[in-house]
Amino acid sequence: MKYITCIEDLRQIHKRKVPKMFFDYVDHGSYAEETLRANVDDLKRIKFRQRILVDISKRDLATTILGDTYAMPLILAPVGSTGMQYGDGEIHACRAAQAAGIPYTLSTMSICSIEDVAGNVEKPFWFQLYVMKDRGFVKALIERAIAAKCSALVLTVDLQVIGQRHQDIKNGMTVPPEIFRPKNLIDIATKPGWVKGILGAKQRNFGNIAGHLPGSKDLESVSAWVASQFDASLNWKDIDWIRSIWPGKLIIKGILDVEDAREAVKVGAEALVVSNHGGRQLDGAPSSIEVLPEIVHTVGSHIEVMFDGGIRSGQDVMRALALGARSCMIGRAYIYGLGAFGGPGVSKAIDIIGRELSTTMGLCGVNAINQIDEKVLAE
Ligand code: FNR
Repeated sequence: MKYITCIEDLRQIHKRKVPKMFFDYVDHGSYAEETLRANVDDLKRIKFRQRILVDISKRDLATTILGDTYAMPLILAPVGSTGMQYGDGEIHACRAAQAAGIPYTLSTMSICSIEDVAGNVEKPFWFQLYVMKDRGFVKALIERAIAAKCSALVLTVDLQVIGQRHQDIKNGMTVPPEIFRPKNLIDIATKPGWVKGILGAKQRNFGNIAGHLPGSKDLESVSAWVASQFDASLNWKDIDWIRSIWPGKLIIKGILDVEDAREAVKVGAEALVVSNHGGRQLDGAPSSIEVLPEIVHTVGSHIEVMFDGGIRSGQDVMRALALGARSCMIGRAYIYGLGAFGGPGVSKAIDIIGRELSTTMGLCGVNAINQIDEKVLAE
């Protein structure tokens, strides 16, 4: 991996190694992908203020996230079907995050279950919850996260209806995936490494769901259940109910509006994530970085503000921190690494971003994460 120098390198290798239907599922966004592009482009436009002749020999990326100390202000975001990019992908990604000293978030829609991951990693991880119509199932899921000693609950609130991703429909990346379509089969046949990894994996279904529903064992029936379960009626009152079951730290993910940020404070969440789901939901929504400053300004002293959307480098992390985020989640950036090389690829992605952040801090004349603010930015 010596010649892999940036996240884009990992993306190119992911694209080569993983069947197109699964790569496209990661790489694309909803509808015209305007928000997906804006996430990346708006970050890039933010310029740094170079400072010189400051002693930057003792740079330290360590920080606290919800009171716990981590190696850097970076979190692996929840990503559904991670285990379809690489066999046992969730376990590999979680191990890589823990080795690097940062949090990992397991998606409700993961392939490896909460128990699969908990049984194969050393430390607690975070669990991301989608609230399904079947509240008995949701309660049981939260109780499983408690039993697995998950250390935070990330409640994703921007998926009450699902934004359409054209590419997924064209590729047959539907629920369930049309793997046996001739076009997909031919493509998959050219990726034997991927096939081997998936066949050798412990799980090839939605592990948090399969086996936890009466009578639904195959991918088709589990997928059909999932598709019918997204709850359009979900509202702020439901948060109290979740609070009554989950005793730990609550992070509300998917906030783009100041009014909603205020509500998140009111319901007593410990953190919120400014996020548009990586440009996969409301196309035409502002980029995450565009709305970050106002949200930080309004609620930043009452709640920990996290950020995601469009981060492809340590420079991007620095930009979000400069505009007030306390930490950043990455989605695609680490999945590209996973698809390219499994666990070592995730480690590589984290390492690349950490080094870029450290160098950028140095060239802006700061030594510590808590020194990063608007002063590191050019006009
Ligand atoms: C996601 N995201 C997501 N979020 C969530 O809360 N639960 C989930 O299951 C998923 N699944 C998912 C799958 C894929 C393939 C992607 C790319 C993203 C959103 C994710 O947590 C995060 O908000 C974005 O990925 C951030 O944007 P970047 O870093 O990918 O640009």
